[in-house]
Amino acid sequence: MTLAELRQTFLEFFKTKGHAVIPSASLVPENDPTVLFTMAGMLPLTPYLKGQAHPMGARLVDSQKCIRTGDIEEVGDNRHLTFFEMLGNWSLGDYFKPESISWSYEFLTSKQWLGLDPERIYISVFAGDQDAPRDDESIEIWQAQFEMSGIAAELGTVGKDEPSSATSGARIFAYPKSKNWWPDPKMKGLCGPDTEIFYDTGKAHDPAFGEICHPDCDCGRFVEIWNNVFMQFLREEEGGPLKPLPSRNVDTGMGLERTAAVLNGVPTVFDLPEFKTLISAIELKSGKKYGADEESTRSMRIIADHTRAATFIIGDQRGVLPSNVGQGYIVRRLIRRAVREGRRLGITEPFLWQLAEVVIGEFGGHYTELETNRNRIVEAVKQEEEKFDKTIEKGLKEFERMMDDHVISGEEAFILFSTYGFPLELTEELVGERGGNLDVAAFKREFEKHQELSRTASAGAFKGGLADHSVETTRLHTATHLLHQALRQVLGDHVQQKGSNITVERLRFDFTHPQKMTPEEIQRVEEIVNDAIKRDLTVKREEMPVEEAKKSGAIGLFEHKYGDKVSVYTVGDFSKEICGGPHVEHTGELGSFKIQKEEAVSAGVRRIKAALV
Ligand code: ALA
Repeated sequence: MTLAELRQTFLEFFKTKGHAVIPSASLVPENDPTVLFTMAGMLPLTPYLKGQAHPMGARLVDSQKCIRTGDIEEVGDNRHLTFFEMLGNWSLGDYFKPESISWSYEFLTSKQWLGLDPERIYISVFAGDQDAPRDDESIEIWQAQFEMSGIAAELGTVGKDEPSSATSGARIFAYPKSKNWWPDPKMKGLCGPDTEIFYDTGKAHDPAFGEICHPDCDCGRFVEIWNNVFMQFLREEEGGPLKPLPSRNVDTGMGLERTAAVLNGVPTVFDLPEFKTLISAIELKSGKKYGADEESTRSMRIIADHTRAATFIIGDQRGVLPSNVGQGYIVRRLIRRAVREGRRLGITEPFLWQLAEVVIGEFGGHYTELETNRNRIVEAVKQEEEKFDKTIEKGLKEFERMMDDHVISGEEAFILFSTYGFPLELTEELVGERGGNLDVAAFKREFEKHQELSRTASAGAFKGGLADHSVETTRLHTATHLLHQALRQVLGDHVQQKGSNITVERLRFDFTHPQKMTPEEIQRVEEIVNDAIKRDLTVKREEMPVEEAKKSGAIGLFEHKYGDKVSVYTVGDFSKEICGGPHVEHTGELGSFKIQKEEAVSAGVRRIKAALV
């Protein structure tokens, strides 16, 4: 089964269960300053999980583009990808555990759908603690499912006096919060207990990972393929108490690539046909054979993974180019690491852009934005590789000089980073190869000092973190709508949103306009926004089909397909925009609006930074 077939089968199955198919949201979260990338299907649905009605209803299904950079060091093993697709079905206060679990079972085991052998399926559930009891309900539902297949699914325990193992008949395992609570035991935001579904690959247990084997053992016998989260709590402060949500939701996530590997009986995701094409191209360029030796195999996997991730980020509907800050830094890091692995394989000329073309060829059919943005992707990858080549030579000389004393200080690592474009990981690798020392903590301090945004690769801030629509960001979000409309009034209807980003301190808005704004224009825009604030206009949300929204004159990013229902926010008689929210209820809550900066981003695109004071 190809990735495209599995994706389609999943969507079809949940359609038969009354779910509406929604498109994948952007990889770059629009109004969430707490994360760099969409790292789970639920992220773009946060407002709806918190209780807002979704225009497409209470049962949704999709395949969401995701990036997880926290796993970057694990890329090259058989399970972890930087870019992956997460198949998910949602209940927004509609169905709960019985339907969620029985549909998962049906989809996985029914001959009509995936037809996996139920004997190979293992389950984990939440063991219970002071926050919530053991999930006996899920245990019972699972047992009833397995019983239909004639399997007695016994409950096993791990970490107790006499732990059970998956070889002693136990099939359902209860684990504590560290394993069966999503996203993290203490993390702020939406959360709940979960039940995870594992597939037994049949590989023999490796005792190096512990005496007993069970689904969460890392020996590689079990592969997690699906997670059903019963999202019913909100933690308002990190480590703080749980508050029940207005509705009990279901949020599931199935790794598309991992599950496809299981279905195809291949040992790693890199053996899937879509990756094979990419790897063949790398073999051709390098003259090396995939699988011939461990080191080249690992390099090829890293190149394939990173090229795919970089292609999707640059080619996203809110695409990001390589740079030294925020998401751009991640793209730079991915490209440069891939180039470096390429050089290790003996590829001397620029090659990555050709692989990007292969990725576009493989995935552009479903993710049409890749085709639309083909030139931007290819050019950006080409330029970045050339830039890297130029600086790296100089940087390596500098590095050798710095390594005289076998130590790279934080300051030296920062010089390599800022002047020679060495990602920290590259310096770490080089120092490692030479058996020297690197002061990573000092580098990070140095880095923070120099960055406008500290939300980057340094502190692992992008590892997780869930949407937190604090009061400030909600106010700035409404202010962004007012700004958008005011710009159109002052500069003209050619003004179109190209990007938006909000932190707790300021908003940033990119838009199309051919020249620098004059001081008078800036002042006029400020006045119009402040006037709309003073009038204390009411903010209203309506749902309508996307065609109707367009017809009604709503502005905003039209990423939706024909027939989709969308939310439209109107601010009094002033602005009307397609948007997922959230927003304040009255503009009077905004205070006073001030433009801090107006500058160029690229040809024909301007950027405004503004704050509410
Ligand atoms: N949100 C859950 C996950 O990402 C489904 O695993």
